[in-house]
Amino acid sequence: MSKKNKNETGAKIYSLPNLVTNVALLNLSEENSRLKMEQKKICEMAARTILHALDCKDHYTYGHSMRVAYFSLSLGREIGLSEEELYDLELAALFHDIGKIGVPDSVLLKPSRLTEEEFLAMKDHPSQSAEILTGFTHFEEVAKYAKHHHERWDGRGYPDGLKGEDIPLFSRIILIGDTFDAMTSSRPYRKGLDYEVAYAELEEFSGSQFDPELAKAFVTAMKREVAKNEKTFELSIVDGKFEKNAA
Ligand SMILES: [Fe+2]
Repeated sequence: MSKKNKNETGAKIYSLPNLVTNVALLNLSEENSRLKMEQKKICEMAARTILHALDCKDHYTYGHSMRVAYFSLSLGREIGLSEEELYDLELAALFHDIGKIGVPDSVLLKPSRLTEEEFLAMKDHPSQSAEILTGFTHFEEVAKYAKHHHERWDGRGYPDGLKGEDIPLFSRIILIGDTFDAMTSSRPYRKGLDYEVAYAELEEFSGSQFDPELAKAFVTAMKREVAKNEKTFELSIVDGKFEKNAA
């Protein structure tokens, strides 16, 4: 039964117990949002700490993870993801290769072609990423996206051979950002491809390796990004400005 009444003028009169309940509820919801903010800050601190460990292990993979986050976010915005979704996508992209912490330096930093055995050790990194992240309750979803970032649209990827839309959307997005960065960044032993050449590669493998709709949207998003003529990008979780082109 409502405790609200009206006086002769029609104005609502609140009984004292009702008023107390309302104030208590207000305090509770303020406390709730304060706790959520606090939790978010702790998550971000944990994220930066883990990424710092990755930077110590392999500076290239650290920079690569920043750029994959930037490429993934550009695609995420292009397909109209919400701010909340973009935040999760950023986290997942930043962490997609975190499992490389567990790959021996002799394999991870090898400038030449990997042997079959070394390739198998490298192939384990998405599952390792998931294993590292699942330990932290707030990163459970992010762990799933990281685990599947090497699945292919045609089902011939790894670790689970997922196919088409069975692959989480964020994993499909990260795969495109990941491959694009791998193609366009320069390494001591080879020069990165021009964006136009990399677009053509994405198109060629669209429908086999990549989700065709996403591959198309990515090229549109990147052409818009290039037109901005900015050399650096920023992220919301990691501070600082990052070079768009890997040296
Ligand atoms: Fe990867």
